[in-house]
Amino acid sequence: MSTSNTDIVLDARELAKHYSVSQGFMKPKAVARALDGVSFQLHAGKTLAVVGESGCGKSTLARQITMIETPTSGQLHLGGVDAATADDAAKKRLRQEVQMVFQNPFGSLNPRKKIGHALEEPLVINTTLGKAEREEKARAMMARVGLRPEHHQRYPHMFSGGQRQRVAIARALMLQPKIVVADEPVSALDVSIQAQVLNLLMDLQEETRVAYVFISHNLAVVELIADDVLVMYLGKVVEQASKKELFAMPRHPYTRALLASTPRIDKSARQTRQVLSGELPSPLAPPPGCAFHKRCPYAQERCKVEVPTLRQPTDGKTIGLVACHFAETIA
Ligand SMILES: Nc1ncnc2c1ncn2[C@@H]1O[C@H](COP(=O)(O)OP(=O)(O)OP(=O)(O)O)[C@@H](O)[C@H]1O
Ligand code: SF4
Ligand SMILES: [Mg+2]
Repeated sequence: MSTSNTDIVLDARELAKHYSVSQGFMKPKAVARALDGVSFQLHAGKTLAVVGESGCGKSTLARQITMIETPTSGQLHLGGVDAATADDAAKKRLRQEVQMVFQNPFGSLNPRKKIGHALEEPLVINTTLGKAEREEKARAMMARVGLRPEHHQRYPHMFSGGQRQRVAIARALMLQPKIVVADEPVSALDVSIQAQVLNLLMDLQEETRVAYVFISHNLAVVELIADDVLVMYLGKVVEQASKKELFAMPRHPYTRALLASTPRIDKSARQTRQVLSGELPSPLAPPPGCAFHKRCPYAQERCKVEVPTLRQPTDGKTIGLVACHFAETIA
């Protein structure tokens, strides 16, 4: 499938989010570089998966691109509009265009309101539609996500985890967003239910051309749903490639380690793989040079002092981007 510049629904340039963290009484505040200069583009109808260990900055990235938070630096363009300089009316419109689905949808549903109400609420806030029209749209959306008509009158606690996630997806789609950011949307579900929800997401994308930013630590899920993958480590992108390329020929030692720790059916992938040891360093005190050097089996002196840039390896074997000084030699 071809993509052109006109398909770009989100353009993130060097997005960073630094949090000021208290270190205790009388101690100076420290800075956590939760997100540290992340750039990527998202295309209509495509899914970009964001992977990486707990604490690497995935949810922080999600909060910046959904405009829940304001980035410390960098730029976010949504549908060609700069989110930082947009006026209030434009910001409101942009917020409608980027919706979020969380891991635990129960948290975002009011337990005292019926599901029909939860689905109609975005329409009450953002449109002038009358009651009958709102209900009609809610019921139509319920049918699209596989909920039954009688569910309209039920309360959140009456639903299973998978059904609640369907409600959350339905709610996110009520305003016909261009982008849905899904932060671990199936992680809390049973494996059999996971597949159903993933299939639903893929079907809805085919119907609507919505773009997904799909955050997950589960590479098996990513392999199923993604078009492209962003691998994050300590607030930075260490590898960015198409799913096909990334799974066939992971180039960053960290990506290889992540893949090695995921059970895979495909035995044709040839790389020597090592298991990831050690822990993710703190974003309060990131290691100098390549942030991965203390855990990397290929690390050399240069890695301790020089930050690798995200670049295309020069050997022409792949077209994705890798942040490793020795991407060519360890291939
Ligand atoms: N509001 C905040 N104040 C200070 N530090 C924060 C804040 N939010 C996140 N962090 C820190 O930023 C880093 C990235 O956190 P984030 O929640 O984005 O990671 P994540 O990749 O989503 O992890 P997980 O897979 O566990 O959800 C962590 O070290 C976290 O402690
Ligand atoms: S730059 Fe060095 S430490 Fe970092 S991933 Fe590459 S080889 Fe390993
Ligand atoms: Mg998270």
